[in-house]
Amino acid sequence: MSIATADDPAVEARGLRRTFKGGVEAVRDIDLRVERGEIFGFLGPNGAGKSTTVRMLCTLLPPTAGSAKVAGVDVVADPAEARRRIGVALQEIGLDPVQTGRELLELQCGLYGIQGSAARARAQELLELVGLTEAADRRTKTYSGGMKRRLDLASALVHSPEVLFLDEPTTGLDPASRLTIWDEVRRINAGGTSVMLTTQYLEEADQLCDRLAIIDAGRIVVEGTPGRLKAQMGHDVVSVALNGADVESTKAAIGELPGLERVVVESEALALYVEDGPASIAEIVRRLDRQRIRVGGIAVARPSLDDVFLRSTGRRLEGDEEVAA
Ligand SMILES: Nc1ncnc2c1ncn2[C@@H]1O[C@H](COP(=O)(O)OP(=O)(O)OP(=O)(O)O)[C@@H](O)[C@H]1O
Ligand SMILES: [Mg+2]
Repeated sequence: MSIATADDPAVEARGLRRTFKGGVEAVRDIDLRVERGEIFGFLGPNGAGKSTTVRMLCTLLPPTAGSAKVAGVDVVADPAEARRRIGVALQEIGLDPVQTGRELLELQCGLYGIQGSAARARAQELLELVGLTEAADRRTKTYSGGMKRRLDLASALVHSPEVLFLDEPTTGLDPASRLTIWDEVRRINAGGTSVMLTTQYLEEADQLCDRLAIIDAGRIVVEGTPGRLKAQMGHDVVSVALNGADVESTKAAIGELPGLERVVVESEALALYVEDGPASIAEIVRRLDRQRIRVGGIAVARPSLDDVFLRSTGRRLEGDEEVAA
């Protein structure tokens, strides 16, 4: 057996697969590599296989096939050693409502063999890290959703893990609490902890992650830095709001444009992928006018991760509407 070193990647998975009883193929042959020091995002819609992947990487669920290492330790061959090197904050938080934040953290320290004054000091340090010192001696049932998340984050850190897994750390939080969590994740990462997080939010992946993979129906469909993924789109998107206009005749009227790569029909709109958005608009307006087709409006946008998602999966990321609202 090889010995894990600090040079091993934070996460390395090969052909990782999980099939549930009844034949649900939740995760289908995923290859994944998260480098040390990275914040890596796993972006995908409901049911994509994010939590199933995280649970396998955290030794909570045995893979059906394939292999995975965290911090160089095989999760199947040596789950106890793997668990010592990782911290995890799962999607469903399980906090004891009558415990205080401080009590919870000291108890969590005890589970990792940190006792007495060392436990008290560690709990205090973590309460400071996640900004919960003032609420530390209140019962967790009085905490807001954001405070509960931050406490959960702190409790994943008691044993100073090398790799931190966060499953949808900001789902259901208001925008301000979301920003607070992002700051904390950045701070934890700056302290040397590698982070792998799952999210349904494009903005979270874009703002927070050094690299990301988009997962859809159990498969990774695209992977890269947010900047490179967007640059690879290589064109602008002109969005024509149909406002009741017929899809096919609108498409036909616009026809072939210079630099047009493709047309995607969305609900109530046509998305035209072109090299030069602003230059295309005038031509689109002229052609629609010639055919007397009235549309709701025309807008041009630079490529976003939303467009990367659409191109990789053929759909928009539905869960993100919550953020846009
Ligand atoms: N224990 C289980 N038994 C059977 N099917 C399961 C089980 N756990 C998950 N699944 C199925 O596996 C697929 C992937 O689920 P998973 O929870 O990994 O998705 P997810 O990307 O985390 O979604 P969400 O964003 O909603 O949390 C889904 O179709 C889900 O219904
Ligand atoms: Mg999930």
